[in-house]
Amino acid sequence: MKQMLVTGGCGFIGTNFIRYLLEDSDFQGRIINVDSLTYAGNPENLADIQERFPERYCFVKADICDLEALETVFERHAIDTVCHFAAESHVDRSIVRPDAFIRTNIVGTFNLLQMAKKHKDRILLFHHISTDEVFGSLGKNGVFTEETPYRPNSPYSASKAASDHLVRAYHKTYGLPITVSNCSNNYGPYQFPEKLVPLMILNALEGKPLPVYGDGKNVRDWLYVKDHCRAIWLIMKKGKRGETYNIGGNSEVENIRMVEMICDLVDERVGKPETGSRRALITFVKDRPGHDRRYAIDFTKLKETLHWYPEESLSTGIRKTLQWYLEHREWVNRVRSGEYQAWIREHYG
Ligand code: NAD
Ligand code: DAU
Repeated sequence: MKQMLVTGGCGFIGTNFIRYLLEDSDFQGRIINVDSLTYAGNPENLADIQERFPERYCFVKADICDLEALETVFERHAIDTVCHFAAESHVDRSIVRPDAFIRTNIVGTFNLLQMAKKHKDRILLFHHISTDEVFGSLGKNGVFTEETPYRPNSPYSASKAASDHLVRAYHKTYGLPITVSNCSNNYGPYQFPEKLVPLMILNALEGKPLPVYGDGKNVRDWLYVKDHCRAIWLIMKKGKRGETYNIGGNSEVENIRMVEMICDLVDERVGKPETGSRRALITFVKDRPGHDRRYAIDFTKLKETLHWYPEESLSTGIRKTLQWYLEHREWVNRVRSGEYQAWIREHYG
């Protein structure tokens, strides 16, 4: 893998993945990062990477729904590997405005597959990043395995399910070498503060209400983003072509427990306010429509065949994440105020 097209590299997981590949892994090749820079994409995340690895990192501002732009990327660069992160990723947004999810997650993935098929003679792998949400919702017991039937419940998860099926179909029909990974909830550096963990960390630090949906007893499985990146790279190198791998954190927790844990850690790290524990900021709000009750991932296949296991526990991972947000208040301010969009306009038009 010498020339890797990474889509959505300016988002949360994409940024961490590019950093991991160039800084920490045995990847020797070059990365072409294609990102259209939506509200969730911030090229400032990788500004130092651009300076430190000018020969091995290149950014192209392009929309994966723009087939002509993709044609140009494939013509200019001898891409042999695709790692596809680009997506609309936030469930709440998909409930209010599903259009962009259908466009990017389904049509965008289709375009990339068409490009990979066109250049199949040089494509070694198309790796597709997906989610455990495609499997739907679990009751008190049970886990998602690679064989669990798809039952997506939100426009977001339905659009991701459609993209997973397309990727699989391009393998079965056209022999495209693919792998797919379905991962649980990620948290860590560079996550846009609309998602539960960064939102709660920042609101807790600022003494703002902590909105918990419904009764707070929905369960998610949490994985530190660097562990996800390690798993992806391992699957790309050693995973069986045509196969799917579940990735999980072995860290199932009710939302309310997660929020209480964040409150306690913030109290411990920066001191309790005069009014007492930050847990008092927790506010139960109207539930998310179609809110999946529980996710739990069985990642035995990844563990047994590729010997991957998460390195961070929830406690160590959340502490690292809190530390990162404390040290990157300027990043948070720029992302929240949309100031980085001005930087994008200045640099990329
Ligand atoms: P994110 O929202 O932080 O980043 C998405 C990136 O894609 C942004 O940089 C955005 O600008 C870019 N993008 C969006 N539309 C585009 C388009 N049309 N063309 C080009 N670029 C476009 O998302 P994330 O949390 O980093 O998730 C990355 C991938 O991982 C997604 O496919 C998501 O479904 C999947 N995933 C996320 C999680 C999670 O917990 N965040 C868990 C499992 C799987
Ligand atoms: O499971 C993987 C998925 O995890 C990814 O595919 C998605 O891209 C990613 O956004 C994430 O989806 P969730 O909906 O699980 O993540 P979110 O951070 O939005 O919410 C986590 C849980 O917390 C969920 O049960 C809803 C709840 N929640 C969320 C927010 C933002 C709250 O109670 N209050 C909130 O303010």
